[in-house]
Amino acid sequence: MCGIVGYIGPREAYPIIIEGLKRLEYRGYDSAGIALFDGNDLKVSKTKGKVADLEERSDKEITKNGSVGIGHTRWATHGVPNDVNSHPHISNSGDLVIIHNGIIENYESLKKELISRGYTFKSDTDTEVLINLIEDVKKQEKVKLGKAVQIALNQVIGAYAIAVFDKNKPEEVVIARLGSPLAVGIGEDEFFIASDASPFLEYTKDAIYLEDEEMAIIRFHKGIKIRKIKDDSLVDPYIQKLQINLEQIEKGGFDHFMLKEIHEQPKAITDTYRGRLLRKEAIIKMAGVEDNMKKFLNADRIIIVACGTSWHAGLVAEYIFEDLARVPVEVEYASEFRYRNPVITEKDVLIAISQSGETADTLAAIKLAKSKGAFVFGVCNVVGSSIARETDAGAYTHAGPEIGVASTKAFTTQITVLTLMALRLARAKGTISSSDFRHHLLELEMIPKKVEESLKSDAHIQAISDIYKDASNFLYLGRGYNFPVALEGALKLKEISYIHAEGYPAAEMKHGPIALIDENMPIVVIATKKGHYEKVVSNIQEIKSRKGKIIGIVTEGDVQVKELADHVIEVPETLESLTPLLTTIPLQLLSYHIAVMLGKNVDQPRNLAKSVTVE
Ligand code: F6R
Repeated sequence: MCGIVGYIGPREAYPIIIEGLKRLEYRGYDSAGIALFDGNDLKVSKTKGKVADLEERSDKEITKNGSVGIGHTRWATHGVPNDVNSHPHISNSGDLVIIHNGIIENYESLKKELISRGYTFKSDTDTEVLINLIEDVKKQEKVKLGKAVQIALNQVIGAYAIAVFDKNKPEEVVIARLGSPLAVGIGEDEFFIASDASPFLEYTKDAIYLEDEEMAIIRFHKGIKIRKIKDDSLVDPYIQKLQINLEQIEKGGFDHFMLKEIHEQPKAITDTYRGRLLRKEAIIKMAGVEDNMKKFLNADRIIIVACGTSWHAGLVAEYIFEDLARVPVEVEYASEFRYRNPVITEKDVLIAISQSGETADTLAAIKLAKSKGAFVFGVCNVVGSSIARETDAGAYTHAGPEIGVASTKAFTTQITVLTLMALRLARAKGTISSSDFRHHLLELEMIPKKVEESLKSDAHIQAISDIYKDASNFLYLGRGYNFPVALEGALKLKEISYIHAEGYPAAEMKHGPIALIDENMPIVVIATKKGHYEKVVSNIQEIKSRKGKIIGIVTEGDVQVKELADHVIEVPETLESLTPLLTTIPLQLLSYHIAVMLGKNVDQPRNLAKSVTVE
């Protein structure tokens, strides 16, 4: 996720773009940049860091006048965050300039082709490939910029929102969208371009939201023309009157970042497997795994280290790796691992999981494992983070920035990456049949739709939250793949509502926690059809006979638990190994609604930090 802002009109573009970028920093904040046409030439300033760093730098670097410009705040996906990889990117001739939000999946093959034609590249980004592809098309086909953008985009696989202009024709900006949002604010003979309306709300409430596969050519004094990228047909612009305030927009209309991020999960999971899960070809492509396949195949065992929610994702991975790839897995709290003189050899593979990529204990565990010769693989969300840099290889989750302190989409995207890894390894080891492998790919591909389905229970979960919001304790139970989900559900409730909650393997209940059960105790039981169903039903009966209040997370159409439980929340059916991706959703919503009803600060709970850089 990145933030895009552009302006074309009679005003000075610089302050509009800078203020707009600040409002879009929630979309990414590892680097920022701006390109202006000052009446004579193109001026570009860009830097690693925040928009404030860009202001400081551009003060020294460029004259800030000009009424056409584009700006960008970055969340790195290709290439670490540094000055060179920051946007805007300029074409080889120096004429064309672009900003881009999204991922061009086939950028490597396009880059090779362009290099063979003499193009050179300064950055590691897919975006620099795109602007040179546009330049190449423009020259080869002898077409105008708009047409060149259209032809180039028809060669591109991936997702994008872009804004491009030519310094020789600066009264025209071309924009396009596929999979990443793009809005145009319509002022009086002026146009604002942005990832959401927040950068231009103070200037105009009239906006056009580009649909997927649409592009627009915006000309000063001449207006806007929208076309379909594929067939060039003209689209009638639909101008909306916005009735929203700034806060609402940054949170996409949600009351909190946490809720927004919960609802982003279908897209985040899709972004995670995009370009990796190739169902039709029946393959999984993950460069970090492929390049190091020998290490994985020769490993005596896999050790997973992480903290908090990422540790729970590691526990889910333990089940998946052992189940599918038949390799022994140990999951360790990074903070314990680093201090207990663990036995590590060169035949160990260590997987470190971290959303932020900055967690001090996880980083220290990595350094320890490396010093003993283990091969270390990172699963991080933040590109270019310390853990991403410290590990020998890795795979990003591509979940986009997670702002809410309580981790939600990071968890499900981590599980997605780890599932892809386990499947890839299982295929290489021959521990999964080809039909089973295909079946897994198909089911994994359908998960985003099923998460969407699960999110539809929101109102029902809100009603359940209202009944139990004043409870002092909660118990969460699950078995097999859903035991880590029980732990995660309890952690979510604790950290944002401050209600004491414990997660347990369902069968362990009778070894202690059962003593806590009375009519005041709500117990969330994950009882999906696949996964020791009958055994969990017996546990539910034990709870019922002690008058505990049962909230069952069940598979759609379940009858047995429905009869026993006080409430049930349904999730769609899927493979047992993929159930955590669905059963987690109602637990996230339950903790969210309870915390809101109790008036807690959901996005910034007391005593917690998003990135724990101290031990
Ligand atoms: C819980 C939560 C924390 C983090 C933990 C690890 O909602 O956010 O438990 O999961 O601090 O952080 P990362 O994944 O950044 O290493």
